[in-house]
Amino acid sequence: MEISSAEFVISNTNVNKCPSGDFPEYAFIGRSNVGKSSLINMLTNRKGLAMTSATPGKTMLINHFLINKNWYLVDLPGYGYAKRGLKGQEQIRTIIETYILQRKQMTNLFVLLDSRLTPQKIDLDFIEWLGMNNIPFSIIFTKSDKLKGGQLKQNINSYLKTLHEHWEELPPHFISSSENRTGRLEILSYIEQINKTIHNL
Ligand code: GTP
Ligand code: MG
Repeated sequence: MEISSAEFVISNTNVNKCPSGDFPEYAFIGRSNVGKSSLINMLTNRKGLAMTSATPGKTMLINHFLINKNWYLVDLPGYGYAKRGLKGQEQIRTIIETYILQRKQMTNLFVLLDSRLTPQKIDLDFIEWLGMNNIPFSIIFTKSDKLKGGQLKQNINSYLKTLHEHWEELPPHFISSSENRTGRLEILSYIEQINKTIHNL
């Protein structure tokens, strides 16, 4: 799929103030610093579209980007950034959970996992919560450029194995790098396939 246009539309903390209408949207979630905003820039080929930072906690709001004038990418704040303090983390958690549970236009949630890490409790708990709430999601392993092939494979297999302990069937997963654009075509064509099943797209 070609990305012919990508425009920032609105940022807010309140799901009720997100854009109205019925364009489908694809949101990105994961721990702070896992690479959500960078991935949105990589997918859209626009470097400064979503704000990124080497310091965790950069994205604080729900950000809507209108793509090709008929669907949205949504950048969400990350969870689990300890320096925010408990109260700050709770506020972010509420923003994220309310968006996920209430936003009817959210067609698929991409859960980003850092491919360099062993399975993390915070991510496993979050995925468990998605399952309990019947949220449609898929998985993206990020920062694959930081690992050698063998190690990458080993880490991903270990993650999938851990997930299989809780889930009989796993959702689709992708491997990405915003550095060298790995995964771009696969993720965009996955979105395109879903869009095609939606009336008028
Ligand atoms: P929050 O908004 O704080 O939740 O973080 P985020 O998940 O949006 O992460 P962001 O995209 O801001 O990236 C965090 C850091 O990781 C930045 O320094 C990025 O340059 C770096 N980064 C993101 N993706 C990749 C990647 O695929 N490869 C490499 N090498 N670095 C990456
Ligand atoms: Mg961000």
